[in-house]
Amino acid sequence: MVSYKDLGLVNTREMFAKAIEGGYAIPAFNFNNMEQMQAIIQACVESSSPVILQVSAGARKYANQTLLRYMAQGAVEYAKELGKNIPIVLHLDHGNSFELCKSCIDMGFSSVMIDGSALPYDENVALTKQVVEYAHQHDVTVEGELGVLAGVEDEVASEVAHYTQPEDVEDFVKKTGVDSLAISIGTSHGANKFKPEQCTRNEEGILVPPELRFDILEEIEKRIPGFPIVLHGSSSVPQEYVKIINTHGGALKDAVGIPEDQLRKAAKSAVCKINIDSDGRLAMTAAVRKVFVDSPAEFDPRKYLGPAREELKKLYIHKCENVLGSAGKA
Ligand code: G3H
Ligand code: 13P
Ligand code: ZN
Repeated sequence: MVSYKDLGLVNTREMFAKAIEGGYAIPAFNFNNMEQMQAIIQACVESSSPVILQVSAGARKYANQTLLRYMAQGAVEYAKELGKNIPIVLHLDHGNSFELCKSCIDMGFSSVMIDGSALPYDENVALTKQVVEYAHQHDVTVEGELGVLAGVEDEVASEVAHYTQPEDVEDFVKKTGVDSLAISIGTSHGANKFKPEQCTRNEEGILVPPELRFDILEEIEKRIPGFPIVLHGSSSVPQEYVKIINTHGGALKDAVGIPEDQLRKAAKSAVCKINIDSDGRLAMTAAVRKVFVDSPAEFDPRKYLGPAREELKKLYIHKCENVLGSAGKA
């Protein structure tokens, strides 16, 4: 049993309270390799932002959970070495069982998500409550989820979205004791968040998605005032990356994300954690593809992973400064 406190990590409690009070959101960036982790820490130190390092079940399988935990521990020391002791959370993204959440808590995670959103309501309540009871014994914070996001990822899949029912949230929060709640208001996972037929096209032919359901968010906030809300599936799918990828051998079709102004608006509300994974994947892929096409003789991985890391860092600084508003809040 390792406590996150001994690793220099923090849970989300104080971070979220300050974010709601200050009208900004904490970035939750997924990582499963060294370059992503370096870019996240460099960007958050440079912009002086608190940060949540997220590990999905798929990342755990890909990279090994022990290695990822030590990388997060290393991230704390790395941030200090770069000159700023920013608050860092190590969070399990989309935990799907009590056993997985317990295993992460026991090995030093400071926060876990138990995603029972696909279960019938009462089963979601029971599972979430079980995780909360164990987590709180170790002062680990827990994110639950109500409502289902559309989209397909390695470990997270649902064909259709079911918006969160505002009338459920108060009961869910009371019965489970969760510390934060992920909701479904129109975001979804991956780089194709909307079908073309759900969007309009602007004069350049770029897909413009429908607005998020801010009416549902407002209704939820009325029912649980000041309670920390989480938005998953919040990549914006920058079209400049899509263009670089597609002009350098890629084939991304109809990739569209959540416009940044809508995320900025959400961050000013009780939304205090915004999950971003796909934008990082796009940034890295665009940079790597560019090196492969422009410099086909390169075969040193540092020559393409280095530029990918630089692009990621730029992206994350932009998110903290211009989208989430977390810059300067560490
Ligand atoms: O919400 C899902 C995250 O983007 C993680 O995706 O399961 O492919 O690691 P993954
Ligand atoms: P994106 O696919 O929009 O980056 O969402 C990531 C996420 O929600 C991780 O839990
Ligand atoms: Zn998610």
